[in-house]
Amino acid sequence: MSFSNVYDDTQRAEAYATLQFPGTYYLAYRDLPTILAAHVQGQVALDFGCGAGRSTRFLKKLGFDATGIDISASMIELAKRADPDGSYRLIEEGDFSGFEPDSFDLILSAFAFDNIPSSDQRVGVLGGLRKLLKRDGRIILLDSTPEIYTHEWASFTTRAFPQNRTAKGGDTVRIVMKDVADQRPVVDVVWFHEDYLHLFAVSGLDLVASHKPLGRENEPYRWESELSIAPWVIYVLGRFPGE
Ligand SMILES: C[S@@+](CC[C@H](N)C(=O)[O-])C[C@H]1O[C@@H](n2cnc3c(N)ncnc32)[C@H](O)[C@@H]1O
Repeated sequence: MSFSNVYDDTQRAEAYATLQFPGTYYLAYRDLPTILAAHVQGQVALDFGCGAGRSTRFLKKLGFDATGIDISASMIELAKRADPDGSYRLIEEGDFSGFEPDSFDLILSAFAFDNIPSSDQRVGVLGGLRKLLKRDGRIILLDSTPEIYTHEWASFTTRAFPQNRTAKGGDTVRIVMKDVADQRPVVDVVWFHEDYLHLFAVSGLDLVASHKPLGRENEPYRWESELSIAPWVIYVLGRFPGE
């Protein structure tokens, strides 16, 4: 499969850097403070796939001592520009050797696994992240649901890509972001719930909780599918007991 990280592109990275939490993205972050408060003890956090630092700054505002890591040099540059005193590091794919094992209370991955193409790579990355987690630490994966690629949303359109409907786990899918000037489709890889369950099991992680946020009528957005179909899924993971 030919797949490149669509975010390792200066124009795309610039477009992404201007995003705050508009429309459908609001739903992804809305419930995170409650989920973090319920499941995470301690303040030391790693933001895997930090992009332009939006998710790292979000963690810092919640009181976490957060470090952002990414494989895209353009993204890390933008993250540093937006938060000059912050901690952001460029890493090679799956290389976590710059970090001590058992050192993080929280590892957040917001939208990064959508861009990791192969099952083997995902197992390598998640297994590597697991080693960095303290015994009672939590990994939180926030990713797209398969439904996001087959419906219309406040912030996304997929109607130009009917082939998304027949995509199987690991296939590429396309989606256009409505909130940014860059209207080229983002190319993601779709994964289904069963694929995630398999990934967690082989990576030595237990699924502690999962959450699929829906829009509410009283929210100041023009929800399209969001009121009845969840665009995002949030998985809370912990190390297997005794390991
Ligand atoms: C959609 S952006 C999300 C950025 C940020 N977490 C946020 O919520 O704004 C996904 C990021 O994951 C990064 N990424 C993809 N694969 C990665 C990998 N194997 N290791 C580290 N970062 C990765 C991309 O470079 C991109 O910056």
